[in-house]
Amino acid sequence: MDTTTLLEQLYQTPEAEILTRIATLKAALGDQILILGHHYQREEVIRFADITGDSLKLAHEAARSTARDIIFCGVHFMAETADILTDDHQRVSLPDPAAGCSMADMANEEQVARCWQELNEILDAETTVTPVTYINSTAALKAFCGEHGGIVCTSSNAQTVMTWAWDQREKILFFPDQHLGENTAVLRMGIPDDAMIVWDPFQPMGGHSPEAIQQAKLILWKGFCSVHQWFKAEHAETMRQEDPTIQILAHPECSRAMCETADFVGSTEAIIQHVANAKPGASFAVATELNLVNRLGILNPDKSIRFLSPMICMCSTMFRTDPQHLLATLIAIQESGEINQICVPNDQQLHAKLALERMLRLA
Ligand code: 13P
Ligand code: SF4
Repeated sequence: MDTTTLLEQLYQTPEAEILTRIATLKAALGDQILILGHHYQREEVIRFADITGDSLKLAHEAARSTARDIIFCGVHFMAETADILTDDHQRVSLPDPAAGCSMADMANEEQVARCWQELNEILDAETTVTPVTYINSTAALKAFCGEHGGIVCTSSNAQTVMTWAWDQREKILFFPDQHLGENTAVLRMGIPDDAMIVWDPFQPMGGHSPEAIQQAKLILWKGFCSVHQWFKAEHAETMRQEDPTIQILAHPECSRAMCETADFVGSTEAIIQHVANAKPGASFAVATELNLVNRLGILNPDKSIRFLSPMICMCSTMFRTDPQHLLATLIAIQESGEINQICVPNDQQLHAKLALERMLRLA
């Protein structure tokens, strides 16, 4: 049966039956499969994950897994990363292949190559600039970094990676997320504002003069997360007026103003740990994806957890993975069919792996 017909059938099946069938098939497949779940996954999916985590933890887990089939309940760049880090005989599936990341789409290979070429017109990029890509990027960009002496970072190791990158060469080109780069450099590492420029890929020379480029220590790509952009410093203000004891927690993909006002800034895993370690009765307002914030409330009934924004900030692509897609993937694996397998092209594998392994060695 083709995937569309199977999914049509599954959408007509009661959800309780879908969940039972997932549990039965998962048990039957045993060690042959490993289900990885990112913290933004919905409740009905993440409950089936063998391991949950942020991007860094899940990359490490994929690298050490020996399972024949890894099912990545997350988004496309995460499954690509897992494919790069696993052996050739292992298969990585993304239950819904349309689960992308709008931030990862904000920098493509052609744009980054053009940027590199433009930088080369005024300085020797190969010896003066370390390219650093956030893991939220295509395999092609990870390969670009591997090939040009660069590296990958995640929201939990950006400072360590940027320190490494500046040890290699005097400048960093950081893509695709302006905010993670800026928040890490300014708020954690004390880099002054006049040492940074923001590169607009739709402007010649990113919109800068040769002098400005020569002076910059950090070149930040003009990209952002369409979910985290909605958390504002004024929301924190309102929360503090309502509850002066409240702690504001933010993901580093939020704007600088948001992170500046936050009491704690960290990756999804770090936010979870921070709340878990707090004393009973503590109250938090959290600036990250809604599914995770709701889960924090369930996991910490002795604490008050609020969503920071008055708007619903949900990652619609993370939400695409539903129990029906997960079941369809398990059925295909059991029948030895290939479904939504993510295969990074051979010509990108080598250099992308180099950039990822440089990161995994650091943290
Ligand atoms: P983490 O690595 O912190 O889980 O972040 C991934 C992500 O996409 C956040 O938007
Ligand atoms: Fe991408 Fe933002 Fe969704 Fe994370 S929350 S996967 S950065 S769109």
